[in-house]
Amino acid sequence: MKNIIITGGAGFIGSHVVRLFVNKYPDYHIINVDKLTYAGNLANLKDIEDKPNYTFVKADICDFETIMGIFKKYNVDGVIHLAAESHVDRSIKDPFTFAQTNVMGTLSMLQAAKLTWEQIPEKWEGKRFYHISTDEVYGALEMTDPEGIEPPFTTKASSGKHHLAYGSKFFTEDLKYMPHSPYSASKASSDHFVRAFHDTYGMPTIVTNCSNNYGPYQFPEKLIPLFINNIRHRKPLPVYGKGENVRDWLYVEDHARAIDLIFHKGTIAETYNIGGFNEWKNIDIIKVVINTVDRLLGRKEGEDMDLITYVTDRAGHDMRYAIDSSKLQRELGWEPSLQFEEGIEKTVKWYLENQAWMDNITSGEYEKYYESMYGNR
Ligand code: NAD
Ligand code: DAU
Repeated sequence: MKNIIITGGAGFIGSHVVRLFVNKYPDYHIINVDKLTYAGNLANLKDIEDKPNYTFVKADICDFETIMGIFKKYNVDGVIHLAAESHVDRSIKDPFTFAQTNVMGTLSMLQAAKLTWEQIPEKWEGKRFYHISTDEVYGALEMTDPEGIEPPFTTKASSGKHHLAYGSKFFTEDLKYMPHSPYSASKASSDHFVRAFHDTYGMPTIVTNCSNNYGPYQFPEKLIPLFINNIRHRKPLPVYGKGENVRDWLYVEDHARAIDLIFHKGTIAETYNIGGFNEWKNIDIIKVVINTVDRLLGRKEGEDMDLITYVTDRAGHDMRYAIDSSKLQRELGWEPSLQFEEGIEKTVKWYLENQAWMDNITSGEYEKYYESMYGNR
């Protein structure tokens, strides 16, 4: 039996990773370590919470003594580290929390793993510390093409596949880090600590940098769930700036599949970029979301376009993210399984069919429920 800690397992991506591992590997013991911040929600894991190979531990990754205790108690073989403060807008308002959780919290996980694994006879053998990071650490790409072709244009990735792009440059693993927001700066710093633990102590680490995820269970402060919920209630849709910024969207279960593959087959000390070759301008994706929600709610398709409200831009708003995931495709054979049209249809349907999940969060009921379960947090 392998004991694997997944941090941040009550969050959006973490809950998909926990579900995948608990269901796919009955001989693994999955220990979900989560502080249950505003973004953590055990309702995301209702379907697997009673499985015998699953344990939930409410803990703060910054609390080093407690984390050490968890490592000792469970004889941990591997860590998949997702716990973080993840929302750029919050990082602009409150950078300290991001440095604390994302930098110091990651360091606390690394140090606990090091002190535990160093003491056992087999040391690093069979151990793995896998850190989940973001494409935002690379900074922003331009939306130009040297040949002057109007974007989006069809281009060919180094994987050999054609796709639409808004610029000729992509985030590759060898790119210099150039974070712009307090969030991405804190993630960049945590990535450096993870690599430092490999280079200094020989810890078997892996880092992956993924593009924007979408899908069920995403906290409704992020673009897609926020807008689905606002359209449902006919509330304004706050589009930052001109809505021209480009993001590369990946269905969350495809990210979880990549994490599974890399955790088991990835090369130690390597970095892999994960992305969907799926670039969209915000305003275009917003129009797709409006049309989809309207159609699924039986409204006239597009009738809610007038909810679009242009608001002051996000400070330091990165223009374009676009991942080149060719290395992962070439070396480990991973590919996104869902076309975007299919993924967004599934996603919108999920939020509309799970309105109680959304209402619990937005009405504050969910706060009260977990307070009664786990006390003040
Ligand atoms: P999320 O905000 O939905 O979830 C974060 C989880 O971490 C929550 O359950 C929260 O309770 C927990 N957490 C926060 N602080 C903690 C602490 N101090 N101790 C223990 N648990 C704590 O985030 P997400 O969108 O699922 O992102 C997960 C990870 O993936 C993050 O590291 C993020 O940087 C990275 N990432 C996210 C995306 C994306 O599009 N969402 C893309 C690439 C990478
Ligand atoms: O690229 C990966 C990153 O993607 C992850 O590391 C982050 O954790 C995740 O939050 C996400 O960051 P973004 O800032 O790209 O996601 P967000 O959903 O906040 O915004 C997506 C785009 O939409 C961005 O260009 C800002 C814009 N936006 C967002 C919100 C919430 C709006 O125009 N209006 C909004 O209300």
